[in-house]
Amino acid sequence: MLVPGYRDHPTEPWDLNAPVDPGEAEDFLRRCYQENPRLGPVEPRLAVVRAQIAATGSYAHTTEELAHGARMAWRNASRCIGRLYWRSLMVLDRRRARTADQIYSLLVQHLQTADAGQLRPVISVFAPAQPGRPFARVWNEQLIRYAGYRTGTGRPLGDARQLGLTDAVRGFGWRGKGEAFDVLPLVIETPADGIRLYELPERAIREVPLTHPEFGWFAELGLRWHAVPAIANMRLTIGGVHYPLAPFNGWYMGTEIGARNLADADRYDMLPLVAARMGLDTSRESTLWRDRALVELNRAVLHSFEQAGVKMSDHHTESRRFIAHLRNEEKAGRPVPADWTWIVPPMSGGITPVFHRYYEELDLRPAFYLDDEAADLARGCPVVRRTR
Ligand code: ARG
Repeated sequence: MLVPGYRDHPTEPWDLNAPVDPGEAEDFLRRCYQENPRLGPVEPRLAVVRAQIAATGSYAHTTEELAHGARMAWRNASRCIGRLYWRSLMVLDRRRARTADQIYSLLVQHLQTADAGQLRPVISVFAPAQPGRPFARVWNEQLIRYAGYRTGTGRPLGDARQLGLTDAVRGFGWRGKGEAFDVLPLVIETPADGIRLYELPERAIREVPLTHPEFGWFAELGLRWHAVPAIANMRLTIGGVHYPLAPFNGWYMGTEIGARNLADADRYDMLPLVAARMGLDTSRESTLWRDRALVELNRAVLHSFEQAGVKMSDHHTESRRFIAHLRNEEKAGRPVPADWTWIVPPMSGGITPVFHRYYEELDLRPAFYLDDEAADLARGCPVVRRTR
């Protein structure tokens, strides 16, 4: 679907060897300078960028362009319900880092910056990919994730979503404690140092043990979750320039943990256990034991984060904020691309306002993309024939 004045980008393969598309660069720069009058006139800047692209196949963003471009990418993230605060994204320009050690220490700094008192949205932008040249990346899908171990019983221990990556890092020599919430090491791959594993220091990992406001036994389940969701393997693309390493974080909405990570049958699969401890009749679906256990699990998540003083929002509040975001953007004359299947919370959808409407589905840039290759690496499957 095309909105006047906006280029729609039908999903196309990312060609690592292609030079930057000057049209996309111009499109971004015009919008960036129009949205930020204090940056001055765009025409002289366009002339410089066109010349740089002609000479080198790429161009370098100014710090301001990078910052606004990253914020625009968040604004355009059609699966994200939390976009009301897109302007507040803190952008750390890490384009000079090259070695795995440098990158690692900046990733630790990222987590500490994100969690200094109140959680705040932060992105660290590392070097862009130069056409046809290898680049640094992190294999992990998030900076903090829990290992998943195969047990031979058919029921994995830990986060089953991480079975593949856990196998891979064990293949590289890592040994976890073999418990349900072992934080995985970071797998940092750079042209300079190859593949290296790094253990995050405790100071970079805040976790919240889960308790329930009424059920004393809940703590005995030994559940916990990390405070900061920090996506590490999506490519940020701004004005035709690709940043394959640009980890970003926000704060959690409770259902991400309570209605997905801990509830999904192919993740921690906790509903049967919670229902059993609640003494529910699980012999028939029509007792709604799953739904009742789900509500209590989600109450525990929200309650525990609140008690720990870690910022988190509930799905009712976040839905209302998203509606406010839609109104703001409409006033600004901008479309809000949104994917209903991701925006509607994974529980109680129909009693949140985001359920009761349709959204525009647009691929607007700047944007974040999850490349197939990045997704494979996060599953611990090194791609045999990498395009480089
Ligand atoms: N759903 C993912 C998780 O459970 C995190 C995705 C990003 N979420 C966020 N609130 N920024 O870890």
